Amino acid sequence: MNILLVGSGGREHALALYLSKSKSCDKLYSYPGNPGIWKISEKAGKEIKSHSDYIGFCKENSIDLVVIGPEQPLADGLSDSLRQNGIAVFGPSKLAARLESSKGFAKDFMQKYKIPTASFKTFNKTEQDQATDYLRTANYPIVIKADGLAAGKGVIITNNFDESQNTLNQIFSGIFGEAGNAVVIEEFMEGEEASILAITDGKDYLLLPPSQDHKRIFDGDKGKNTGGMGAYSPAPIVNDNLLKQIENEIIIPAINGMSTEGTPFMGCLYAGLMIKDNKAKVVEFNVRFGDPETQAVLPLIKGDFVALVYSAAIGKLDKNKISILENNHCCCVVLASDGYPDNFEKGFEISGIDDAEKNGAFVFHAGTALRENKLVNSGGRVLGVTALGESLKQAVEKAYHYVELISFKNKYYRKDIGLKGLNRHFE
Ligand code: AMP
Ligand code: GLY
Repeated sequence: MNILLVGSGGREHALALYLSKSKSCDKLYSYPGNPGIWKISEKAGKEIKSHSDYIGFCKENSIDLVVIGPEQPLADGLSDSLRQNGIAVFGPSKLAARLESSKGFAKDFMQKYKIPTASFKTFNKTEQDQATDYLRTANYPIVIKADGLAAGKGVIITNNFDESQNTLNQIFSGIFGEAGNAVVIEEFMEGEEASILAITDGKDYLLLPPSQDHKRIFDGDKGKNTGGMGAYSPAPIVNDNLLKQIENEIIIPAINGMSTEGTPFMGCLYAGLMIKDNKAKVVEFNVRFGDPETQAVLPLIKGDFVALVYSAAIGKLDKNKISILENNHCCCVVLASDGYPDNFEKGFEISGIDDAEKNGAFVFHAGTALRENKLVNSGGRVLGVTALGESLKQAVEKAYHYVELISFKNKYYRKDIGLKGLNRHFE
């Protein structure tokens, strides 16, 4: 099978690795890709700008399957355009992608299908006075979210009325562009977060091992939110009982609900969960693989990943195409550029990746670039340094050992990836 992978981050590098290793993969193309992805795939030679460029590329290269990594092309309806041209796609339609591209849609959907989530109210730009009245009598902290896609920055936790007013003004005055034409104001949930990825054909589903992201920039979950500073899997907070609740109250109603709405969800449904007292509520749905969760989850699978995602893409999920490695744990530590998620310097040469890989690491590229044949940092999150182990402790120790082997100026990383899971093992 010839495959085109769309995207350029660490998640896509992990996808590229497991797609390219599958026995059903004849040729893997990538667009736009990154230096890590280009080592294991063929970079699409020409620039692809529009949906018709994608369709043209697929026809010229006899592409059998397109796998879309990021949310933006899904929200833009790339899946629909490709499907209308007879090309199989792993990734939901534009209407199904509203589960991520409109937080208001997702909240109304969860309410309708009784999926546990924080209580909420939605206000659009013309309802600022009503939103203000609501915030005057609200309990704090309270969470204000821009309705649309805002590159992970559209969620603000406010601690009092004044802060909430500032946030509301900023959002409605356009700091997130059109994504801020409406807001969801919701109850602040306490607890610990975890992520569940479900591969689905719109009817049936396969859960991948639960994982835990580390969203804040500093150790101990302090500082600003980031795209994710590391992840590990399986996350022991999701025990068997909890997993049953998540399936019965969240995953199954979500998949069936999207089908009932006439917008079946085909692709990877990501449920971001808040867990308290062994009960899960949904923080958010994403309509694609998580980043960096994917980097910590895919190393735990074996089998024909291409055949799995193809079966989902054509509406005939075959869960037997992969299995989960028993007694294995995976940890991914993100190496970032110091200063991220604010300003940081780019262009520093990166060394030591080969050494880490020779020792068994998976090193997933995210913000890297080639300059005069040298690999340099070009983004906030640079690499995902990943290790498998027979225990979570071993996976974490190995990942941090590999981290030491890789250097670039202004390298920054969290020192506590996996710690919550390790503490839970000893409870
Ligand atoms: P989201 O983009 O909706 O996942 O939000 C980003 C992050 O904000 C989440 O991962 C949580 O850490 C936090 N967050 C979002 N909604 C809530 C909530 N209702 N209560 C507590 N934390 C939240
Ligand atoms: N790890 C969070 C996300 O993928 O959105």
